[in-house]
Amino acid sequence: MSKLYEAKNAAVVLSDITKSYRVGSITTPVLRGIDLAISREGLSVLCGPSGSGKTTLLNLIGCIDRPDQGKLTVLDTDVASLSDNELSDFRRENIGYIFQNFNLLPVLTAYENVEYPLQLAGVGANERKALSELALSQVGLSEHRDKFPSQLSGGQRQRVAIARALVKRPSLVLADEPTANLDSETGESIISLIKQLQSQHHIAFVISSHDQLVRQHADRVYSMRDGQLLPEQEARLAQFA
Ligand SMILES: Nc1ncnc2c1ncn2[C@@H]1O[C@H](COP(=O)(O)OP(=O)(O)O)[C@@H](O)[C@H]1O
Ligand SMILES: [Mg+2]
Repeated sequence: MSKLYEAKNAAVVLSDITKSYRVGSITTPVLRGIDLAISREGLSVLCGPSGSGKTTLLNLIGCIDRPDQGKLTVLDTDVASLSDNELSDFRRENIGYIFQNFNLLPVLTAYENVEYPLQLAGVGANERKALSELALSQVGLSEHRDKFPSQLSGGQRQRVAIARALVKRPSLVLADEPTANLDSETGESIISLIKQLQSQHHIAFVISSHDQLVRQHADRVYSMRDGQLLPEQEARLAQFA
């Protein structure tokens, strides 16, 4: 498949993306020229050791942060052309985000956590109810809908977070190390669920992980080292390292 063909069908295209963090007077380059086209189909996994830049890259793709340089196209939109407000709107409308530590609101029930993004978006009560109940049932949590996060296991919390990410039917969902705080069996069930939802709903799904199990479920694996992507062959070899 040619690079051009891939780029045309891509959910995300990154061209020579750089990002540095400045702490005091010290600037540390964290992403050093990323070129990547991420398909709209299947599960794409971004792997690499801690500190290699996975979260930073996902935050750029998720429009939570902006690159210093380079061109970033998300769902056919050149994100540099958007103002900060437009960028937040774009993110809310199109992108779901799943965090390593679940990031649920502790004072809201499972159902209310899932419903919350719809409330923020001004969706009417009937539609909110239908969409939230559907999303909760898709992650197998209907019977736990009225529990608070503190009354749920880690796996159940992550399921709530997945339902919340999917409830607005985003075209792109990003998950930053979604299994890192779970035991391996629970992690496996979460990855299987993600895989199943991804293929059912034809969502572009990008997961960062250094979990071998996650890679086994991936349709594509991209390997990062020190803020750069490894060339394909090195990336394949790195999987066995
Ligand atoms: N907000 C920040 N301020 C300063 N340095 C940061 C910040 N976020 C990440 N970094 C640094 O950027 C590098 C990459 O971090 P990160 O993207 O979190 O990697 P990963 O997710 O692969 O562990 C690390 O060296 C980290 O210390
Ligand atoms: Mg990280």
